Amino acid sequence: MSNQGLRCYLRGGAVAIFPGSDVDGRTIILGLESSCDDTAAAVVCFENGRPRILSSVVVGQDDLHLAFGGIVPEIAARAHVEKLDRVTEEALTRANLTLAQVDAIAVTAGPGLIGGVLSGVMLAKGLSAATGKPLIGVNHLAGHALTPALLEDGPEFPYLLLLVSGGHCQFLIVHGIDDFTRLGGTIDDAPGEAFDKTARLLGLPQPGGPSVEAEAARGDARRFAFPRPLIQSDDCNLSFSGLKTALLRARDALVAEQGGLHRADRADLCAGFQEAVADVLAVKSRRALEAYLRLDPGAPCLAVAGGVAANKVLRARLEGVAGDLGVRFIAPPLALCTDNAAMIAHAGGLRHLAGFRDDLTLSARPRWPLDRRQPALLGSGRKGAKA
Ligand code: KG4
Ligand code: ZN
Repeated sequence: MSNQGLRCYLRGGAVAIFPGSDVDGRTIILGLESSCDDTAAAVVCFENGRPRILSSVVVGQDDLHLAFGGIVPEIAARAHVEKLDRVTEEALTRANLTLAQVDAIAVTAGPGLIGGVLSGVMLAKGLSAATGKPLIGVNHLAGHALTPALLEDGPEFPYLLLLVSGGHCQFLIVHGIDDFTRLGGTIDDAPGEAFDKTARLLGLPQPGGPSVEAEAARGDARRFAFPRPLIQSDDCNLSFSGLKTALLRARDALVAEQGGLHRADRADLCAGFQEAVADVLAVKSRRALEAYLRLDPGAPCLAVAGGVAANKVLRARLEGVAGDLGVRFIAPPLALCTDNAAMIAHAGGLRHLAGFRDDLTLSARPRWPLDRRQPALLGSGRKGAKA
């Protein structure tokens, strides 16, 4: 296949890639991801149980949705259908492997935008039926939750994970590859959605997280008294929609008063908003850590995943909370925090090695809570269902 016309990139910088390795006697997993707006394929090799990423290809869709102010599910699904096969071929080529050398095919089977999830599941089923290779359905959230275990110096089970992205926000205790306790999560928007909305309201470029963070660096976080939703509630749940509305009101008041926004206003609004998000996440992380520490884990660890984990102010706050409680803090490289298929190949590989198998009855699930003891989180955002 040719690279022409295909925008392949690894987001967020370097990830350990080992192309063309000798694969004899190892378990090779092809992973596919298409649950939101990234079409991704990756190959992960397990050797003595240790995973290595051989290739990881992510093709974004930002340009397709730009004019609509959010992800259009039908456009996303069509783009996945058009690109998945080429992205898969590219991942195999970069790993210097053929499909025949793959031991199993892992695919995100939910939760997410159903059209996109279906595109991946159908391709994976086709590949599995044509080659006779085992098929493994992976929960996208499990992919994120198990990412710390993909790192060279990963944590021991159980660890606490804060997943903060454009589609999700939840605290999970990861006990094992198929055993998760959800301590709490957002009851409305995900923080990334709130960052993106803030950027839109202030005329800053998308994705909103990096542009809001850059503006905030110049701003005064104390000028606007933004709310800290649910900060007093005695649980690990979060809410971000009220914060978004407070920002809208503050912006409108300034526009009414001055006829527009000055540069300093924008910076102060961003700084105040970011501080409120970081405050709430820090307080709730402390609460989640206290609950997790009651399990008396041998090597306590707080890990963070999701695109919002790129935020330096937030990372520093979380690291501080973990440090206060004597807990190790892990933030994987950004390319593994944002949506990618290496995490799906990895989670699928762990399932494969543990003997889990799916068959051609595997279905695509828009909702799929990781913690089966708990009800699905309410709400469906711009990026699909919350869990
Ligand atoms: O995990 P991700 O790539 O996609 C999903 O949401 O599944 O996360 C993307 C989100 C976007 O909402 C983006 O604005 C946010 O992560 N983000 C950030 C930063 N970088 C990306 N939010 C805050 N600060 C950042 N530096
Ligand atoms: Zn995700």
